[in-house]
Formats: sequence, C-alpha cells, structure tokens
Amino acid sequence: MKKTKISVLGIGYVGLCTAVGFASRGYNVVASTHDSEKATKINNGTPPFYEPNLEALLEQSIRDGNLTCLVNQTKEAVLTTDLTFNAVGTPSKSDGSIDLQFIEKSSQEVGLALCKKNSYHLVVVKSTVVPGTTQNVVKPILEQESGKKCGSDFGLCMSPEFLRQGSAFQDTIHTDRIVIGEYDQKSGDILDRTYRDFYTNDGPPIIRTNLSTAELIKYASNSFLATKISYVNMIANLCEKIPGADVKIVAAAMGLDKRIGSLFLNAGLGYGGSCFPKDVKALIAHSRKLGYNLELLESVESVNKNQPLKVVEFCEEILGNLKGKRIAILGLAFKPKTDDMREARSIPIIKSLIEKGATVVAYDPIAISRAKDILKNKIKYAPSAIECIKNADCCVLVTEWNEFKNLTPSQFIKNMKKPILIDGRRIFSSKAFSQKMKFKAIGLGK
Ligand code: UDX
Repeated sequence: MKKTKISVLGIGYVGLCTAVGFASRGYNVVASTHDSEKATKINNGTPPFYEPNLEALLEQSIRDGNLTCLVNQTKEAVLTTDLTFNAVGTPSKSDGSIDLQFIEKSSQEVGLALCKKNSYHLVVVKSTVVPGTTQNVVKPILEQESGKKCGSDFGLCMSPEFLRQGSAFQDTIHTDRIVIGEYDQKSGDILDRTYRDFYTNDGPPIIRTNLSTAELIKYASNSFLATKISYVNMIANLCEKIPGADVKIVAAAMGLDKRIGSLFLNAGLGYGGSCFPKDVKALIAHSRKLGYNLELLESVESVNKNQPLKVVEFCEEILGNLKGKRIAILGLAFKPKTDDMREARSIPIIKSLIEKGATVVAYDPIAISRAKDILKNKIKYAPSAIECIKNADCCVLVTEWNEFKNLTPSQFIKNMKKPILIDGRRIFSSKAFSQKMKFKAIGLGK
C-alpha cells in the first residue's frame, strides 16, 4: 500500500511527536509552524524541548528526508500531502475556557489551501478541543474558506492524543487505544486505515465514534486521572491526622483491586503540566456554559490548588518563622524526565516560601534554564543536589527525579545546617530516614 503523505500543523509536544512518530516509520511528513526559530532547530535535528528518545528519532527522520518543517506554509503542507493533523495549541483564557484562536486561524489556512486542491484531503483535529468545536467551528471555517463541501470534497475527523511528556514515544507506539471521531464514514475509514498501517498487525483497539464524543473522551480521561490524583491526595491528608497511617500502603492495597488499578495513585504535591490543570478547568467552564456544574471536578481542582502548599506548612511547623531560613528545593519541573515548567508545583511552593521571607536554593537536572524564565533571580540555582542542600535549614523534595532517589540520610546530615527533609513525592524510605534525621512526608501519620 502506498504510504499516506502526512502534514502536521503545530509543533508542540503533540504535533512534533506525531510528526516524528510517522516520519520514523517511513512516512513522508511535512510539518508547518509559525515559529521560524523552532523550525530551524527541527530542520537541524534538534528538538525545541527535552523529551527522552526524541532527538535520535528526529535526527534520523531529517537525515532520511522523511521530515521537513516549513514556516508559515500551511498551503504548501496541505497541497503536497493527503492528510493533515492539526495539532496547534488550545491555551486557557482567564476564565478557564479554551482559547480557539489558533485552531480557527489554522483552519482558515487549511480551508484556503483546500480551495486550490483538486483531490480529496482529510483534515484531522488532534488539538484538545471542547465538544462541538470540530463540528461547529472547524467544519464551517473549512467549508467557507474552501468553498467546498465537507464529506464529499474533503474529509474531517477528530482524533485526540493521549501521550505523556517524558514517555511520549513509548505512549505513541504502545498506546492503549486510538479514538477516531468521524464526520462521515469515508473520513473515518481513511484515518482507520492510516492508523492500522502505522501500527501494522498488533495495533491498539480503535474506537470509532462521532466528533463530539471523541472530543469528550479526551477531557473525560484527563479529568478522571486528575480525580484519581486529588482523591489519593485527599486520603494522604487524612493519613497525616491518623497516627501510624501511611498513604503509600493504602494506595498500593487499593491499586490491587482491578476495579481501581494502581496507576495514578501516587500521592504527592498535586498535578501540574500542560494538560490536567488546563483540561479540568476547560471542562468545568464548558459544562457551566451548558448549565451543569461539575461539582466533583471543582473539588478536584480545589484539592490540587492547596496540595503543594502543604510542604510550606510542614516547613513552618518544623522551623517556625521562615524569615531568613534557607530552604533547598529538589526538583523544579512539573514531573521527572521533562524540562517543562508549565503549572509545575514548584512555582506556588517557591512563591509562598519567598513571601514568608525564606531564601530558596533550587536544583533540577534539566529544568533550570526554563525555570529561570519564570522565577528569574528571585531564587538561587544550584549545580547539583548536594550543592543545593549545603547549609540549608530544610530540604523539600518536589520532583521525583531518579537521581534524588539515591540520596542517603548521611548526605543530608553531612551537608545541611540542620538535617530536615520533607518528602513531597514519597520517594524516600520513611523508616531509614526518620531514624537518623528529622523527616516528614506527604501522607504519613505522626
Ligand atoms: C497527561 C496525560 O497522562 C496524557 O494522557 C495526556 O495526553 C496529557 O496529560 P502529562 O501531563 O504529560 O500527561 O503527565 P502525567 O504523567 O499524566 O502527569 C501529570 C501530573 O500528574 C504531573 O504533575 C505528575 O506529577 C502528577 N501525578 C501523576 C501525580 O501527582 N500522581 C500520579 O500518580 C500521577
């Protein structure tokens, strides 16, 4: 079978990982962006953000001539390919609802290109958009700008992406499911064939449905995972009031029940990143517009807002007034294996510590440069974990990078002014640490 020629609009996580995923399997892929700096990097084989395994696959795809990144050339991208994945960003507005300006603009550009195209083309929305967007916003724009009819002249699908940062390629290749929301059967059939060709024989289950259901599946999935996290954090907070209780053991035992499952039950400082906070807010805002309050998700958000500040309370409980105290922060990124600082839990923690007069020193294996864009020179940045904890009055573990897991009580005792460790992600053995130094952890009863 002749391989489908693919174009991708937007080269954020979803766009670039989709482009590199297809290109690395021999598809001819054209990406298009408005950001010339990012395009230059990509064409030189350098990803514009950190993601394990991405660089090697990107380099290979560029070298093999399977991937090219264009600047402001949506028309060219559409005219030279058979299928366009639209993966432009859908940021939050101040009221939590999503801002559709990029999806509208790119749909206009695709429509104008379709006007010049004689053959059938399939447009696939991959950006996270609230239910109704593909049908009521994207389709009318495409039809108006192209003067053509959706269903006969061009096809339209909505296919959400479920990859996680830090394991984007594993998630793409071993995804649990593919969701295809289709405007009509022909559009769905083409996308179904494309995915089956990509995954060869043992691909994931493919769920075919209408456009709005596909859009909702993405929000319902992310909001459910966020709910699991806030739920276990709520139980963690309860454990702290029950002498001897430990949320890690509660969660491990709960997770063995197949109806519950063990994943996303790690108690900690709450969820951050570019998806969960934005998607939960957007679903709440969208549902409110439809006249229904998502009370459960409002509570999920409220638990998540307060959760990071728990470690600041712990610091105060142990040290009293934080004025002039030196607090070491281990980990800045919103999770390990990424340099992404979007909605990172480190930000509200550090802001609150600074407000209380503390001096903050932080270390992260790769997110320092991105953190500097946000936190500027309000804090000190250390070149290693050991340098970070030197002379500190208290250390707070915020992001569970693997390299922190090997730190021992004696390293804290040797380097800190007073050995006090607050484990915000439950990576240290409470038994080993609390015998030798002052140790406090999320979800651990006194
Ligand atoms: C998420 C979804 O998992 C993915 O399917 C979707 O496509 C995009 O959003 P991502 O944001 O990359 O992926 O990271 P994820 O691993 O889901 O973690 C999100 C946040 O939840 C992180 O801040 C992480 O620290 C936190 N988390 C996760 C917990 O606090 N506890 C857990 O058990 C799991």
